[in-house]
Amino acid sequence: MWADHSIDRVLFSEEQIIERTKELGRQITEDYADANNLLLVALLRGSVPFFGELAKRIDLDIEYDFMDVSSYVGTQSSGQIKILKDLDTVVANRDILLVEDIVDTGKTIQSVIEMLYHRGARSVKIVTLLDKPSNRKADISVDYIGFEVANEFVVGYGMDFDQKYRCLPFIGVLKPECYEK
Ligand code: IMP
Ligand code: MG
Repeated sequence: MWADHSIDRVLFSEEQIIERTKELGRQITEDYADANNLLLVALLRGSVPFFGELAKRIDLDIEYDFMDVSSYVGTQSSGQIKILKDLDTVVANRDILLVEDIVDTGKTIQSVIEMLYHRGARSVKIVTLLDKPSNRKADISVDYIGFEVANEFVVGYGMDFDQKYRCLPFIGVLKPECYEK
């Protein structure tokens, strides 16, 4: 495989990810059974493979939309985000489930949550494939977690280093020499 030399070890195989995503889908289906018109909001670009797997496992009449945000460079503690691609959907009075690849400091998702509530969302929850709680800086609670990871840099299944490795079907730890050069 082209990336064999860059991956230190595999953390989660495609089969493990799919199995866990099915469980999350069942849980979300149960929890939102009484909600009407749940809106899944996938944060570009990292969450796309997980989002695609998850959306079909939620047995409810849901809608989805995409958003792309980036942190402002140079103001890392401000928690300010820049919207690169906004939603096309009006979120007022909607229940929203944000779909993330990985929650690290939590600052990105915290700013998105605040913005959605500001726009009148009824509820905003988070589902993330990976959670890296040891590095949390924002005071947020993550509602649905695929797997917890240690404070290591991971790639694959949507997650990148310098836009590479997103298309790997598994999640792995990148060899330090790949990002230290
Ligand atoms: P934060 O929670 O605001 O610190 O940022 C989370 C975002 O940073 C994620 O959505 C990813 O795009 C990226 N990120 C954080 N940790 C990793 C990692 O280990 N590998 C790849 N991307 C990461
Ligand atoms: Mg992301």
